Amino acid sequence: MRLILLCCLLANPVFAQQSTDQSAPESGSDERRAAVSLVPQTDAAVPSEQWMVSAANPLAAEAGAAVLRQGGNAADAMVAVQSVLGLVEPQSSGLGGGAFLVWFDAATGHLTTLDARETAPRAARTTLFQTDGQTMGFFDAVVGGLSVGTPGTPALLEEAHRLWGNHNWAQLFDSAIAHAEQGFEVSARLASAIDNDQEKLSTQPATADYFLPEGTPLSAGDTLKNPAYASTLRAIARDGAGVFYKGNIAQGIVNAVQAASQPGLLTLDDLAAYHVIEREAVCANYRGADVCGMGPPSSGALTVGQILSMLEPYNIAAMGPESADAWRLIGDASRLAFADRGLYMADEDFVPIPDLLDINYLDERATLLQREDALPSVEAGSPPWDQAALEVEWGQSWSPSRASTSHISIVDAQGNALSMTTTIENGFGSRVMAPGGFLLNNELTDFSFATQADGRPIANRVEPGKRPRSSMAPTIVLRDGKLELVVGSPGGSRIIGYVAQALIAQLDWGMDPQQAAAMPHLVNRFGTYDLEQGTAAEGLADELQALGFETNVRDLNSGLHIIAHSNGRLTGGADPRREGVVIGK
Ligand code: DON
Repeated sequence: MRLILLCCLLANPVFAQQSTDQSAPESGSDERRAAVSLVPQTDAAVPSEQWMVSAANPLAAEAGAAVLRQGGNAADAMVAVQSVLGLVEPQSSGLGGGAFLVWFDAATGHLTTLDARETAPRAARTTLFQTDGQTMGFFDAVVGGLSVGTPGTPALLEEAHRLWGNHNWAQLFDSAIAHAEQGFEVSARLASAIDNDQEKLSTQPATADYFLPEGTPLSAGDTLKNPAYASTLRAIARDGAGVFYKGNIAQGIVNAVQAASQPGLLTLDDLAAYHVIEREAVCANYRGADVCGMGPPSSGALTVGQILSMLEPYNIAAMGPESADAWRLIGDASRLAFADRGLYMADEDFVPIPDLLDINYLDERATLLQREDALPSVEAGSPPWDQAALEVEWGQSWSPSRASTSHISIVDAQGNALSMTTTIENGFGSRVMAPGGFLLNNELTDFSFATQADGRPIANRVEPGKRPRSSMAPTIVLRDGKLELVVGSPGGSRIIGYVAQALIAQLDWGMDPQQAAAMPHLVNRFGTYDLEQGTAAEGLADELQALGFETNVRDLNSGLHIIAHSNGRLTGGADPRREGVVIGK
């Protein structure tokens, strides 16, 4: 049996509001309860027994499913999914970007990660985003060539396939090449992203020609072809990812970066030197499971791991998702973790990082949560390490949440699992389009624009060859060495909150993957509690304010793609806020 769960069919009922049980006692912590249910009403998940793919676009998920149907594994399917995403969701990810991948090998039980983060050009200096000693405005830095880091995604496709793939490499690009040559239908989400970004897109002529032909933004339902992208994929299919990093395609990237409205520093040498790094997974234990993900240069697994470890002593399950006390604990654990993130987390190949998941340290941090109300203030802690803490960042790093980045979750028929978050950073990245038919990232703006704070160097400052700190948190959860969950989301630094919440929803509150993906969001990074607009999360505003939190109702645009494995069966979730689907067999 083949099933396709279209998220969009589930989109409307998921935030259905229910009235509370009027007979519930009205004393103690029961007073601090949302007046509506935070458990989304979704159709019961239909399990699959062999394989499953969940991704942000139906054509991309189908390309992966086609590979899995032909006996390809999760690594093979990912190559097909990513190459189609780069075409049909070009605002979010693609060949011109970077990604982090977590891999679970069913045969050996081994978990590992691939770091395909973009790197700063060799000519980059700590003052990259400063003019006359002042930090640049965010979008002044984003748009143009200056923000472009050396892309990692093409090398990742090849490395994942080399390590684990078993399908014919060239055929993995067939779907993407066919859609690029024959044309695909512009989705509503892409059309709206173009419409909202016309001003910035039109600053780069090649980009404007593609997305705003004759000055008119593409509309949903338009047929769009990308012969240049097809030709790039044909070259990679034939000769491998090396053709991207040397020769005509590489020269085209360098030319585009240098000719952009704000010329950048990327050179042919930078491209030729790019390499994917295999790194050990970073794991934290939560409710008897190992929650594993991407270590530095991503802050994803460390921050999610800190949040969960600090919540471990508290009975979040008994409190339930409508309890303001549960959200007080989650929100303040998150604030404490974000304080450590701001101070300590960066590319560990350049800066020393203390043991941020040390269990004694986190037990001590967790005791700070033993109170009735919100923490009045939050500071980074003093985790153990054997080197002097020289790298310091104080203050909040401003991380807007935009409609870009994508997450792919796949489990194959052998039981291998892949969790990959992939990005060009901002929506449409730097807005610079390479002649090869793909957008270039603006990942360098994930570095700190400032070099120092209070006279001390900032850990995440720009340095040549360094990888900017990320929040991407592709996650795989194992229990007793067996696969339990594959989770991840876009969302800038709110990714950490979305992923932590999806894990708590499943591990504490027993939600299925579709409910966890659809659940209204509550995210706290730096003190203000973000509550998702138009959802039951708004119903917690008064209680959270009474506890001492500032609240802010806003759009919270996650893109969770989840697969759960239990008793040999797979169930999936695709975030109804995006266009994704789950396909399983
Ligand atoms: O690596 C990061 O953390 C960011 N560049 C990811 C950007 C993102 O998720 C955009 N949001 N939807």
